[in-house]
Amino acid sequence: MKLALISDVHANLEALEAVLQSIDGEGVDLIVHLGDLVGYNANPNECIDLIRQEQILCVAGNHDRAVIDINLAQDFNIIAYQSIIWSGAQLTAENRIFLQELPITRLIGDRFLACHGTPVNPDAYISYLFQGKRVFNMLRRELQPVVVCLFGHTHRRAVWRRDIRGKIVQLPISEQRTYLTKDNLYLINPGSVGQPRNQIPLASYAVFDTDEYWLHFKLVPYNIRFAQKKILAANLPPYLAERLAYGV
Ligand SMILES: [Fe+2]
Repeated sequence: MKLALISDVHANLEALEAVLQSIDGEGVDLIVHLGDLVGYNANPNECIDLIRQEQILCVAGNHDRAVIDINLAQDFNIIAYQSIIWSGAQLTAENRIFLQELPITRLIGDRFLACHGTPVNPDAYISYLFQGKRVFNMLRRELQPVVVCLFGHTHRRAVWRRDIRGKIVQLPISEQRTYLTKDNLYLINPGSVGQPRNQIPLASYAVFDTDEYWLHFKLVPYNIRFAQKKILAANLPPYLAERLAYGV
């Protein structure tokens, strides 16, 4: 099976359309979104409509949950908080229900698990070794036979590997295919479609071939200026427009 992994669309319609167009040429069987359809950018409904129309498999992100229950946004910074209030006011009744019903995790087959932050917490990050280790332990102790955890939330591309001896490393991000090994465990983050934070202002996604067992990161240009204009026109915080140009 060939999967396209996308994450953190964050209501950036221009970036989502560019990524879906790029995925069109990849011949994938399934597109998986790893959470955060809304927040930050200006097209929450349009992005959810498109995701639903394309029958993309989704899990709930922390922003998707906070837009439904504002109590969950208490730890958000002021800019994220303002944008989640704005997003909530835009949502159609149908799209609100769609977000409300999203599960925290989805199993793809029995070996691949999709989540936003970690399999137990959409708000938790996998950025440092101790955090990666914690999730690998979860896979080994509680989630067998899952061997790959697909996650988002950091808005940065990542591949963590745990070998059979228990050694954990982060693999370098390559623009070529990365071949994986079936006796190792992996944590894979495709980066963000709508608000990349890896200093590269391009929409990010990945193709994962679960038979040939390779992963291929892709970067896609999109109309940043148009996305920025809409953010400013919506009176969202101007920094949300600025940051798109720098990938931060
Ligand atoms: Fe996010």
